[in-house]
Amino acid sequence: MFKTMFEDARLPLLIADSKGRIIFANKWLEKCMGYARLEFLKNNLQELCAPYEQDRYIFSCLPDIEKTTEVDIDFQQKNGEMFTANVSFAPFDYRQARHLLIIVRDVTSRRIREVKTREDEERYRRLLVERNMLQDQLHRSSKVAFMGELAAGIAHEINNPLGIILGFVQDILDEISLNDPLIEPIKIIEKETARCVDVVKSLLDFARLKPPERIPVDIVELLESSIVLLTPRIKKNKVRIKRNFKMKPPSIKVDPQLIQQVFLNIMINAIQAMPDAGVLAFGISLVHKEQLLEPGDWIRISISDTGNGISENALHRVFDPFFTTKGSKGTGLGLSVCQRIIEDHKGKIEIENRKGAGTICSLYFPIKD
Ligand SMILES: Nc1ncnc2c1ncn2[C@@H]1O[C@H](COP(=O)(O)OP(=O)(O)OP(=O)(O)O)[C@@H](O)[C@H]1O
Ligand SMILES: [Mg+2]
Repeated sequence: MFKTMFEDARLPLLIADSKGRIIFANKWLEKCMGYARLEFLKNNLQELCAPYEQDRYIFSCLPDIEKTTEVDIDFQQKNGEMFTANVSFAPFDYRQARHLLIIVRDVTSRRIREVKTREDEERYRRLLVERNMLQDQLHRSSKVAFMGELAAGIAHEINNPLGIILGFVQDILDEISLNDPLIEPIKIIEKETARCVDVVKSLLDFARLKPPERIPVDIVELLESSIVLLTPRIKKNKVRIKRNFKMKPPSIKVDPQLIQQVFLNIMINAIQAMPDAGVLAFGISLVHKEQLLEPGDWIRISISDTGNGISENALHRVFDPFFTTKGSKGTGLGLSVCQRIIEDHKGKIEIENRKGAGTICSLYFPIKD
């Protein structure tokens, strides 16, 4: 009965000595290996394994196995094909010598299922990320559209009275004598009103964004002219400029005024992040494939700083209109304006923290048309 069981049980079985030398094997092992039994009797078990499996740790400790031990091992059939098996090594003593009953279970189909499940999970995870991103975008663009209308309405109504207040305040300042005790409060009124005018102006810029009027533009020239405009601030903050232009990009069709506004907003953020010196670096390169981009040729312009970076909490909100960490010094509209302009150009904008310190803002423009 035991002999029949060993031979006929529909499971590849073999018996090996403590060095792994095969002493018996049943016909199911013969079948699954594609060898006649005689070809591998007296050989070592390793020789039935795939070449890269032959120095697995388990083979060096066969004599010491005390408990049944399971390991997944790839086997190589006579025709060269591989299969993955879950191998149980069950020790027993016979005539004072250690032996092993070895059960070989083909788990290739389980492996394939596992890989497939992993792939499915991965795909699902990617879809989730994409969906969240789209939802964010939708949320943001409806917020932006609403803010735009609201801002246009309010700004229009407030702009005139503010202008009138400022005019009168300046008249009073011209008239009043220099040692009048009222001069200080009136100066504060003037300063704060001027700030309101600025905020309203940015609101109007934000609301009035027109569709881009695109013409072929040398983007490097546009970038350089934007740097020149900021020279006073760059000097004041002792910021060093670094250029890392990997290539001369082809001219692309953009609205130069709008794109200059984007460059300026991003550079101003960068300069503001480096109040006591730092490096403002510009990079230009061509990219073909990058996460979040459709395949195709894109020009990537990066603007990076060595400032204090953006906190994890703030990072996903920087494109929200009115999100600012600068208190009364910022309106929080800079990056949301940039995003709108870049999206109107069918481009992409990304901002992330740099390894080390500071942030890097990347603009991608499609090279088409
Ligand atoms: N280079 C940067 N380094 C550090 N933080 C940044 C940088 N760029 C943007 N941020 C963060 O993103 C926020 C939003 O930027 P955004 O340009 O939209 O508004 P703002 O600079 O605060 O105000 P505004 O541009 O309207 O004057 C900033 O308040 C800041 O917290
Ligand atoms: Mg800004």
